[in-house]
Amino acid sequence: MRTTVGIIGAGPAGLLLARLLHNAGIDSVVLESRDRAYVEHRQRAGILEQGTVDVLREAGAGQRMDREGLRHDGIELRYDKKRHRVDFPALTGGRSVMVYAQTEVCKDLIALQLAEGGPLLFEAEALAVEDADTDHPRVRFRHEGRESVLECDYVVGCDGFWGVARGAIPAELTQVFERTYPFGWLGILADVPPSHDELVYARHDRGFALLSMRSPSVSRLYLQVPEGTDAESWGDEEIWDELERRFETDDDWRLERGPITQKSVTPMRSYVHEPMRHGRLFLAGDAAHIVPPTGAKGLNLAVGDVVTFARALTYQKDKGSAELLDAYSETCLRRIWQAERFSYDMTTLLHRAPDATPFEDRLQLARLERIAGSRAADTDLAEAYTGFPLG
Ligand code: APR
Ligand code: PHB
Repeated sequence: MRTTVGIIGAGPAGLLLARLLHNAGIDSVVLESRDRAYVEHRQRAGILEQGTVDVLREAGAGQRMDREGLRHDGIELRYDKKRHRVDFPALTGGRSVMVYAQTEVCKDLIALQLAEGGPLLFEAEALAVEDADTDHPRVRFRHEGRESVLECDYVVGCDGFWGVARGAIPAELTQVFERTYPFGWLGILADVPPSHDELVYARHDRGFALLSMRSPSVSRLYLQVPEGTDAESWGDEEIWDELERRFETDDDWRLERGPITQKSVTPMRSYVHEPMRHGRLFLAGDAAHIVPPTGAKGLNLAVGDVVTFARALTYQKDKGSAELLDAYSETCLRRIWQAERFSYDMTTLLHRAPDATPFEDRLQLARLERIAGSRAADTDLAEAYTGFPLG
């Protein structure tokens, strides 16, 4: 099998890349180890930056998002029973975000790819990337019980944090920057209308809580829990009681309860792999970097990477210059480190570390008061949350 771009992984990064390349007249093959139903139902975050929304629309993948997605013009920070709204358009010259679940983005891109794009093989597991530093990189993969080889001009590893592509970059050329956190998020889906029309990020002495949503009738909520917590160790009423405590206010706001349909725990990690390119192998999305979910940046970073790669390859095709491909890693990493910084700041602003001291508690409250009391600090948060421009 032969193609111009071999794409490993059909998460948002791989699927969007295949679409962007198709629109630019460049052929690709996508290899995905899981089956279609698995990819379409994996629960992930759901906040699209303004720039991500624009890219999906331009790629011809925005119709259902525009019908069903919810435009959000702000978030609420809650601390010490107080409420502060960050007004995105007022602070950023009109920018906002869209609440539209990552699973829905994947469903839309899969349908488009199968209808109009090149091959997308499910249950096709990449085993290794070979000859990455030559003009003819190859992906060895297993599909329908047989081993095959995909011969490519370029390979893009969009295979997430647990994928194989990253391993093809020699260790002596690699630097990894990493931090784990001593807590995770217990996330639930519940059949109840969201208790607030915007997301609520709450800092509480008992730990962080987040109110989000999937639709006008489905809530998504999270609780900070100790690292390694088993989701099943939390009873449904216990979860609602704890959410209620952490979201407490000094006014008459109330948290509505409803049947919990799903429960799971997500670990928290910051991770960056440098460089993101070796020869003709490029890494994109979670394959190269992870952010803790507090800043809602994971999907948006993946989109930035694949837009950068598609532009660079189109430039090579049209102008015969590898200049942008050569700059790929550097271009992506500038934006990635800004998102790493923001996600770290949001995480340490709102979570309570197990060994937190009263001094650190006071500092967190002072940082929150600063955001609520200073237009400059508020603007800084709004700019980062709605997203930095694509490089
Ligand atoms: N061969 C083929 N496919 C693979 C392999 C492999 N060896 N290893 C992993 N995959 C597939 C996974 O099954 C998954 O579908 O690669 C895909 C990677 O997708 P994601 O993990 O979703 O990563 P990415 O596309 O970079 O999306 C970025 O944004 O909200 C965040 O972390 C969240 O997934 C999200 C990310
Ligand atoms: C979500 O809706 O799943 C979500 C929203 C905002 C975040 C993280 C997750 O910061």
